[in-house]
Order: sequence, then C-alpha cells, then structure tokens
Amino acid sequence: MNDRLAEPPVGTAQKHESAPLHVTGAARYTDDILLPAGALHIAFGCSPVAHGRLIGLDLSAVEKAPGVVTVLTAADIPGHNNYGAVLHDDPVFVTDEVMFVGHQLFAVVATSHDAARRAALLARIEIDELPALLDIRAAVAAQSFVLPTETVRRGDADAAIAAAPHRLSGSHACGGQEHFYLEGQIAAALPQEDGSLVIHCSTQHPSEVQHMVAEVMALPVNAVTVQCRRMGGGFGGKESQPALMAAVAALAARKTGRACKLRLDRDADMTMTGKRHDFVYDYEAGFDDAGRLLGVKFMFASRCGYSADLSGPVNDRAIFHADNAYYLPAVEIVSHRARTHTVSNTAYRGFGGPQGMVAIEAVLDDIARTLGRDPLDVRRANLYGGEGRDTTHYGMQVEDNLMPEMLAQLTESAEYADRRAAIAEFNARSAIVKRGIAFTPVKFGISFTALHYNQAGALVHIYNDGTVLLNHGGTEMGQGLFTKVRQIVAQELGLPLDAVKASATDTSKVPNTSATAASSGSDLNGKAAQAAAVTLRERLVAFGAEKYGVAPTAIHFANGQVHLGERVIGFGQFAKEAYLARVQLSATGFYRTPKIHFDRKTWTGRPFYYFAWGAAVSEVAIDTLTGETRLLRTDILHDVGSSLNPALDIGQIEGAFLQGAGWLTCEELWWDAKGRLRTHAPSTYKIPGVGDWPEQSSVKLFDRPNHEDTIYRSKAVGEPPFMLGMSVFHAIRDAVGSLLPAGVTVPLDAPATPEAVLRAVGEARALAKAAGKAA
Ligand code: MTE
Ligand code: MOS
Repeated sequence: MNDRLAEPPVGTAQKHESAPLHVTGAARYTDDILLPAGALHIAFGCSPVAHGRLIGLDLSAVEKAPGVVTVLTAADIPGHNNYGAVLHDDPVFVTDEVMFVGHQLFAVVATSHDAARRAALLARIEIDELPALLDIRAAVAAQSFVLPTETVRRGDADAAIAAAPHRLSGSHACGGQEHFYLEGQIAAALPQEDGSLVIHCSTQHPSEVQHMVAEVMALPVNAVTVQCRRMGGGFGGKESQPALMAAVAALAARKTGRACKLRLDRDADMTMTGKRHDFVYDYEAGFDDAGRLLGVKFMFASRCGYSADLSGPVNDRAIFHADNAYYLPAVEIVSHRARTHTVSNTAYRGFGGPQGMVAIEAVLDDIARTLGRDPLDVRRANLYGGEGRDTTHYGMQVEDNLMPEMLAQLTESAEYADRRAAIAEFNARSAIVKRGIAFTPVKFGISFTALHYNQAGALVHIYNDGTVLLNHGGTEMGQGLFTKVRQIVAQELGLPLDAVKASATDTSKVPNTSATAASSGSDLNGKAAQAAAVTLRERLVAFGAEKYGVAPTAIHFANGQVHLGERVIGFGQFAKEAYLARVQLSATGFYRTPKIHFDRKTWTGRPFYYFAWGAAVSEVAIDTLTGETRLLRTDILHDVGSSLNPALDIGQIEGAFLQGAGWLTCEELWWDAKGRLRTHAPSTYKIPGVGDWPEQSSVKLFDRPNHEDTIYRSKAVGEPPFMLGMSVFHAIRDAVGSLLPAGVTVPLDAPATPEAVLRAVGEARALAKAAGKAA
C-alpha cells in the first residue's frame, strides 16, 4: 500500500466517477448508444392467460402491420430455446404450455419501437386454459415446487420447544418487490461480418448473457461479445433476466442482418420480469422468561413463479439468514420453493437474506409482546455472544461479533430509553396518532454461496503519457464500483484519481466473469485490479532501479510522481521512459476469495468470508383513522470495515435503507384472480420517494477494519443496509401494539401499507375492547 499521498484516493470521500455525466444527462446508457443506419426495434407478444396450452398462433395480421420487417417465433432459434442459466426451464418463446400472464410467445421486429408494439397486439392467440396456482400456500398444498424442499436442522428443536417454559406458534408473511430500476431491461445486437455478434446490454452479468446468447444462437462463446458501460440500476433484477432481451435481439439481428434493439417499456418490464420472492412463514418457538429462544421451528415457503431461475440460491440464502444476528440453539427450517403461475422471481438486493431475517424478527417481536417485554430487550438477550453461543445453524463460527457493541452504542446515541418513555407518554395523550419505535440488527454473510463465483479478473494498461485505463469484470449500476476500483488502482500507482479511467465491462477484455452481485463487486474486482496494479508497479520499480541505479526500496510513487532516491520524475515522463525501454505496461490481475467452503449435503461449512453488520433505530407515527404512516426519525450505525469511500458508502446505506423500508411498507404487488399483475406501473405501485426520508436522521459508519484481509480491510456495502429497513416495519408494529392489551401479538404483516395498518388497527381495537369487557 502506498501511504505517501497528500490526499490518498482510498479511504476518502470521492465523488462517483460519473456524477457530472449523471446530473447533466450526458451519461450514456444502452438506449443512448447510436446504432448503425437501418437499426430495427423489437417488441414481445405475450400470453394473456396465466396457465394453458398454446393451440394456435396466427401472426398474419402482425406480419402485415405497418413497419413490420419480420416476426420471430421458436422456429427461428438455431440453438437451444432456453435462457435459464441454472435449470434449463426458461423458454425464449413458449411452444406448448404458457405459465404466466406475460409469457413470451413471439416477437415483432419493426422499423420503430411503437410500430413493433402496435403490431404485437394484432396476433390471434388460441390457448386452452388450465387451472392456475396463484397462491403460495395453494401451491405448497398441491406439492407444486420448482426445486426440492430443503430441511436444515441443528439440535432437537421439538424437544427444546417441548421443554421450554414458554411456547408460541404463529404465521407471518412478507410481500414481493419490483426492482423499479430507472432504466428498464434493454439489449441491442449488432451483427458482425462473420456471423459473430456484439451485444450492448444493461446487465449485471455480461458473461452469462454472452453464454446464453451463444447457446440460443448455436454459436461458440468466442463469437459473442457483450458490453455494458453502466446500468440505470439493477438491484438484482439484471442478474439473470437480461439474457432474454439479449437472446431475442441476437435472433432478430441474425435474421434481418441489421442492428436490432429490444427495450421493454415499463408495463412490459413490470409484467414480464422477475421480482423479489414473497414468503409465507409458520413457526413454533420455545423460550425462557427473558424471551431467550431455546428452540425454534420454521416453515418457509416462497413464490418462485413458473421456473427456477435463481430461486434455489435465493431460498438457500433465506435459510442462511434465518438467524439474523441471533444464536439459535435448536432449530429446524423447512424451505419450500413453490411453483406458481406467475412471473419467475429472481435476485433482489439481499437475495433471500431479507426474507429469512424478517421471519426471525417477527418471532422475536411476538415473543416480546407475549411476555410484555420491550422487544429491544428480547433482541439483546438473543444476540450471538457468551458461552458457546457463537456458531450459526450451518456451523460457521461468528468470529467478529460486532453487534453487542453496536447495539449499545446506537441505542445510547439514539436515546432509545428516553424516547421509549416519551412515546408511551405521547400515546397515552394522543387518541388518533400513535407512535412506535424499534431497534433491529443486521448480520449479512458476504460471499457467493456458489463457490466458483467468488473470483474476479482485471486488466490495467498504462499508456505512454502516464494515464491509466482500467477494466475489470464488475459492472456499474450506480453503486460506485468503478469509482472504488479506480481509487484502488490510483492508490497503488500513486496517482491522482483523474489519471485512472474506467472502461465499459466487456467480455472480450476480462473473460468468465461472475455476476456483479452478492455485494462482492469491490471485494473481488478491487483485489483483482490491485493485483494488476501491483504487477505494473513492480515492473516500473525494477526498471527504475536499473536505469537510475537506486535500491528498489528507495522508489516510491506518490501524487503523480515517481521518487527515485533524491530524484523526482513525473509519472507520465517515467511511463514514457519505461515504454522506450520496452517495459510491458499492461497487466492482468486475478483474485479468488480464500477460506470459504460449504457442503450443501450436510448444510455445514463456512459459506461466507465474513459478515457485515448494521443496526437501526426508527420511530414512526401512524394515523389510526387512515392507516397512513410517517417515518419521523432514523438512526443508523453500519459496519463497512475501513471504508474505501465514505461518501459512496453512506449513499449506499441511505438508499438501501429506504428501499428496504419501501419493501416492508408502501410497495405492494397485487395479482387479480386471473393472475394478471394489476400493479404494473408507477400509478399503482408505490416506491418510497424523497419525501419519505425521515425528518431527523443520522447515518454513521462503525469505523473498524475488517478482521479478514479484504481490499484495504473494507467490507461489502451493497446489500446489507437494505435490511435496516426492518426497523421501520417494527416501529409500525410497535405503534399498532400500543393499542393492544398486554400479552397479545401484533396482527400486522409486511407490507404495512395504509390498508394493512388500518386493518391491524381495527383488529387491535377490537381485541382491546374484548379484553376490556372481559376484565
Ligand atoms: N446501488 C445502486 N445505486 N444501484 C443498484 O442497482 N444494486 C445493489 C447494490 N447497490 C444497486 C446498488 C445490489 S442488489 C448489489 S448485489 C450491489 O449493489 C452490487 O454491487 P457491489 O457488489 O459492487 O456492491
Ligand atoms: Mo444483488 S440481489 O446480489 O444483485
């Protein structure tokens, strides 16, 4: 590490590398890329029913419509009619059984986007309708699964629950979530001279798009190049989904010989592409007088939709995070992956982790209400820590348990105890508006649970004017990955940040890359780029030592200059000298995460390199006449290890927190009895806005280096703070709880929309009335 810089690029607040481009509108997204003359546009024709057999597809009117150049069906696919990366169960075009409203049957290629969309509506589609499973519990009852049920056990949960002084059972649920990236799904395919293809695609996973296009087109992988400079948001929704757009754009390009672009409009995007899995939960818990869990049993069931997609690892991550920050001495988790006749659900920030954590938090809240204790005390009593309470239910040691200290620090700075008392006083005086407060912790495992994904490559060039061009396998979706990796390369070469330019992710520069996901972008690509930069620096040191006759230890790179003993040379001049001396000024770097292993048969091992921790205290007010809620104050303490860039990290924490709060409060997906998604536009699907940010807020970094040897001892930040949003949901539960008689659990599941809160308030008031009469 080079520590001789005036303002070191690493560890300081640096603006996002594209910030000026973002705010001036000059940032180029896939739709902004100018295509060659004669480029065509594509729109899908989709199933209007949730489940049935396709018996007729008459496209004659579509073909004759104005502007239409050709129509694509399964018959046009030279390779495999599939874009499912894990199980091969996602047809590009349905040939037989339609599985959800919005399932792709054909595509229209036309001279304009509008012409393609209009023409697609002219198809005569004949489908023999079959009964549709639209509900998770109905699917489980029908044994309709995309993957086998998993059961994970530690100890004897039944016996522990039976022997416990207190027992409780119940059910909970949480909703799904639309990604609502500002830039929708899009891909453009450019045919090349020899049948090869160049694809521009908004994707978190260019290598997978490359592979799936090759498979659909029956091309070798080296004939397909995929590029992505940036996405206008991904949030997990561009991990597996973009392959469909890219494959269809490729088919159209091959058939027409012209550049073809497929851009979903917002309604199509919301109807056709996968979302966060909604879950239902049943539980049984045994606990002591303090609310400390002795045994717990869970049934998790999730809506996977019609195909597997990433549902296997998503549901696995829910199991891994069913403990959140708590020690579960005896536990059994049964995890069903329900197949429903709805869109195939996919990755979404936290990747199932949030759904696992929501379950345990609801159980602890129920236990606290039953015992008449402050939920904070019950949460504290269950944290990892103390004699023999440091191993997860999958056998991983929790080596860096930061939570007891974070809880103490945050509840103190947020004045939890005083505000708890003030809220009780307020609620006693206020008949209509009620307040609530909640603390919730986060422990999130960092690494892909698929071992082979934990690798990355980078490519760094130094040009002979001393400027640097950086490329790595990670993708930029707004999270600031390119900025962080630039900082790392600048730091290693002692350059000002401006001297290092990041270039578009490109499968022809770094091959076999992983998805930019699991929050591991900077951990993996940062280390890979560092390795490349160190290789270059070592070559330059060797060259300098020889040319100027100084010891290698007397050579330093700082502030854009090279110090060779007493001599100082500008980096540009030195690079030119190295070039003239025929020193190789380009290097690759590679990294693979150490220490991780996991045996899925026994569900034991160390699937995560480390944990990221966080904690939040939120206070809300609810209006018991309308069910509306308002977030009044949030205090966050979040662990990013030694921050690579505090400005970007705080931005990630704030954005993730509000997105998590949105998931659990205002965002609701609603399908009608025919399986049609009725919340398919911003008019009916409410994401949080800037006005939902709390009036009073504090977001602080828990400044402690990672105990593991990560890049500059930083920690991943992309997903963990999403789960801080649970504090808002539990504050709402707390406010509703103020209406309940003692010992009663709060009848409110997520999302706590105004309707749901109003319903819960009604139930709570009825229960209170009944209890009053009984007393
Ligand atoms: N931040 C922005 N602005 N836009 C995004 O799409 N995606 C999130 C998170 N933060 C996202 C984001 C998700 S789901 C992940 S996994 C990480 O960023 C991925 O990037 P990283 O690994 O570089 O943190
Ligand atoms: Mo993030 S859900 O891992 O793309």
